[in-house]
Amino acid sequence: MAKDLAKRKRVMGRSIRLGHCVCDPRKPCPCDTLKQYDVCTCAGERLADAPTAAKVDPATIRLTQHVRHAGCASKINAEDLRRVLAGLPEVHDPRLLVGTATADDAGVFQLTDQVALVQTVDVFTPCVDDPYLFGQIAAANSVSDVYAMGGRPVTALSIVGFPIESLPHEVMQRMLRGGLDQLREAGTLIVGGHSINDEEIKFGFAVTGVVEPAKMVTNAGAQPGDLLVLTKPLGTGIVALAAQIGRASPQAVEGAARSMAALNRIASELMVALGAHACTDVTGFGLVGHLCHIVRESGVTAEVWWDALPLLPDVWDYAKAGILSGAAERNRSFAGAAFSAEEVPEEALSVICDAQTSGGLLVALAPEAAHEYVARLHAAGVAEAAIVGAVAAKSEGKIIVIRREGSAMAGMEKGTPTNRDTVAPAADAPAAAQRACCAGDPTASPTNVSDAHDAFLGAAFAPGAIDAVTKELITISLAVLSRCEPCVRYHVPQALKMGITREEIEEVAWMAIAMGGAPVMMFWNQEANRMPQE
Ligand code: CO
Ligand code: CO
Ligand code: CO
Repeated sequence: MAKDLAKRKRVMGRSIRLGHCVCDPRKPCPCDTLKQYDVCTCAGERLADAPTAAKVDPATIRLTQHVRHAGCASKINAEDLRRVLAGLPEVHDPRLLVGTATADDAGVFQLTDQVALVQTVDVFTPCVDDPYLFGQIAAANSVSDVYAMGGRPVTALSIVGFPIESLPHEVMQRMLRGGLDQLREAGTLIVGGHSINDEEIKFGFAVTGVVEPAKMVTNAGAQPGDLLVLTKPLGTGIVALAAQIGRASPQAVEGAARSMAALNRIASELMVALGAHACTDVTGFGLVGHLCHIVRESGVTAEVWWDALPLLPDVWDYAKAGILSGAAERNRSFAGAAFSAEEVPEEALSVICDAQTSGGLLVALAPEAAHEYVARLHAAGVAEAAIVGAVAAKSEGKIIVIRREGSAMAGMEKGTPTNRDTVAPAADAPAAAQRACCAGDPTASPTNVSDAHDAFLGAAFAPGAIDAVTKELITISLAVLSRCEPCVRYHVPQALKMGITREEIEEVAWMAIAMGGAPVMMFWNQEANRMPQE
């Protein structure tokens, strides 16, 4: 492009009079670009056209070298965001089914009885070096919030920040191409977009989806007794940082790329089909942060089984070497007092807190549905999906990180109703009564009558219309009313383990006393004294 010297003189004249370059007022005029390359970008001249400027070969450009925080680590942390949003007015409208108050993945607005809009926007900085792959990941990440609500993404608007003067246009085009290709796979139409000339590369989409209001899955429905399924391996933030500092193995980079670019479409369709109770996708706040939203909104305590978490290749080694971005530390402090992890290796805490880019869905389902979900995901090629924890009890919202074998709920196989079968028997409870009280006890004597009795108990105690915690409380009340000493001595510690409080136990015992009278009260007085002390 020939220089328009008259135009340059006119524009530069203005800049020199002002003492500032008019296209970048932080710089003086004449600026370094003019002095070095004889290019005036204010006059519409382009660096790429200057014969003296160093030509940038698009093939050598590594996107992550052009950003400070890679991928979702560029998010403003949850705590800062909460403080900023706290002073702003809340929106109340009966048509707004899910708004900003519940930290859910997307807003949901009801149009008719059958249709609600699901809307979300996600924009982030590059987490990989290849522009096409970055585009694919940005698209998969943006539609993921619609999938997390059980919805179907329908249309998308692209949002791009790009240093158009310093990087070749080809790079931006390949980013957009990757995004378009992935959206096509999601069945989502791109209907427009917006771009900004920005020093730091940013890319993402505002996505609109639809959902049937009755089938919507929020973060507020997790129930005691549920199992938690994670559909993608953890560690994308750790791998991105390892790559940025030149320490990532090819298999780690490749594994992370494939995982981040993958759509959560199948995972979403299957969880809706299986009647999931709650769901969120794991992104910038890490497993701990997003699970925190579920436990707080659902009012439950969740266990994370750290040794059951699926991980990207080599992530454990990187975590051991201390390769962990600052975002992980912020995610951990966000969970704060709600988060407890005793005797858990530091590496496990690192992956639990690691900020994920385009992570998997974290889904709470009834035990049988959870096993079915994982089996169907594996069959559909979502190979790393795994059961990674459980919802233990009602509470104000807590996360406990433990080893899988350390969990009272880990043994729940298909059709096994509650967690009581894997709990070690109380030392003083007679073994026979233990079996009678303990549905599905593997040590139960193998007679037909006893097996049949166990099966009957199993069916009676299984959470159905009534959840596992309520059933445990009813059991205690009935055990007190029947004055069954071994039953009470088994179920009271069991209830405490599930997170039921002493006050709740006292309360149901007194319901039994109200029904049964003085002998029941005498019995309970004797048993209450034996209740384990804190
Ligand atoms: Co989300
Ligand atoms: Co989001
Ligand atoms: Co615009």
